[in-house]
Amino acid sequence: MVQITFLSNGGKSVDASPNSNLLRVSIREQGGIPFKCGGGLCGTCRCKIEHGIEHTDTVKMKERRHLSEEDLREGYRMACQTFVSGDVSVSW
Ligand code: FES
Repeated sequence: MVQITFLSNGGKSVDASPNSNLLRVSIREQGGIPFKCGGGLCGTCRCKIEHGIEHTDTVKMKERRHLSEEDLREGYRMACQTFVSGDVSVSW
């Protein structure tokens, strides 16, 4: 299992299966990451991986429409497009 910590939700921490979609876990466990479309279009699920960015998968083209190179360097991702393979902490 991997541990996902929702820093902007009082540090709520939940377990998930490896390669889980970050937004799906957030919805299921009431993690609190904001979202609208769930499909990479609206940009609402923009969030920052504060720890464990190395445990996230490759940045998708859909994310690049909403996130600059600098955003990506700082650890921003779009939760609905991000899968996690290890422990991460996320804020938004
Ligand atoms: S929820 Fe709309 S882009 Fe992720």
